[in-house]
Amino acid sequence: MHSLSRTILVTGASSGIGRAVAKNLLQQGHQVIGIARDSGKFRQDIQGFTAVQLDLADLQALPEQLRKLAQAFPAIDGIIFCAGKGQFGSVEEFSYRQINDLMALNFTSQAYLTRAFLPALKRQPRSDLIYIGSEAALKGSRKGAVYCASKFALRGFTQALREECGKSHVRVCLINPGMVRTAFFDPLAFAPGDDASNALTPQDVAEAVCYVLESSSQMVVDELNLNPLNKVVKFK
Ligand SMILES: NC(=O)c1ccc[n+]([C@@H]2O[C@H](COP(=O)([O-])OP(=O)(O)OC[C@H]3O[C@@H](n4cnc5c(N)ncnc54)[C@H](OP(=O)(O)O)[C@@H]3O)[C@@H](O)[C@H]2O)c1
Repeated sequence: MHSLSRTILVTGASSGIGRAVAKNLLQQGHQVIGIARDSGKFRQDIQGFTAVQLDLADLQALPEQLRKLAQAFPAIDGIIFCAGKGQFGSVEEFSYRQINDLMALNFTSQAYLTRAFLPALKRQPRSDLIYIGSEAALKGSRKGAVYCASKFALRGFTQALREECGKSHVRVCLINPGMVRTAFFDPLAFAPGDDASNALTPQDVAEAVCYVLESSSQMVVDELNLNPLNKVVKFK
């Protein structure tokens, strides 16, 4: 059991990894604020849960929305960054707009969110920033130029941020999963193979998040790389 109840902001809480993370945290008695573009995807009656509807890719509107969010929830002492999307293709298949939009959601919005909450997080006795990167943060792959760039950017950001937070009680962690069986693959031309061993489950990643949150307060888990036992990709 937990001695400490925390107030955790979870982005992308309506689906996949973020949803599993939010569920786990609620089961453990924490307060959860969940962000998604469509808050209609959330049940309205969950104790300890507050839904916030926000388009993280709308960088114009984001600073003011985040200022209000930080003001409304001063108790937040952790953020789990799960919102993001996959888009794959050769560089020439991407429009300029698509390059911008993918970087905006997968990287720049995470930097904005960090920027908005860091002053308050530094005032907490203990706080955690846990980012969902990807295996694509570690190695470039075919048709992954823009997606990998967004995840490499996130990895560089978290490495530098960890240094920056080194004199505070803010811990920074990057979790890099391989394929996880979620709606992420719905719009894509590929998916993990059908066998259970071909993909992680969202719950696997949520458990890793819990491990990081619950790890002893003098320790920082820098990065965790998680992969399915048997990597099999299926083309649709
Ligand atoms: N699945 C994998 O194999 C895998 C592997 C490695 C890393 N990842 C990373 O894990 C993260 C989560 O992926 P997932 O597999 O859980 O995907 P998912 O099931 O598609 O969930 C994505 C979540 O992000 C939210 N979201 C998307 N665009 C948003 C926006 N503009 N503003 C606010 N929220 C937005 C979605 O909610 P709404 O649609 O309601 O906005 C949803 O809750 C992503 O960063 C992804 O790159 C996934």
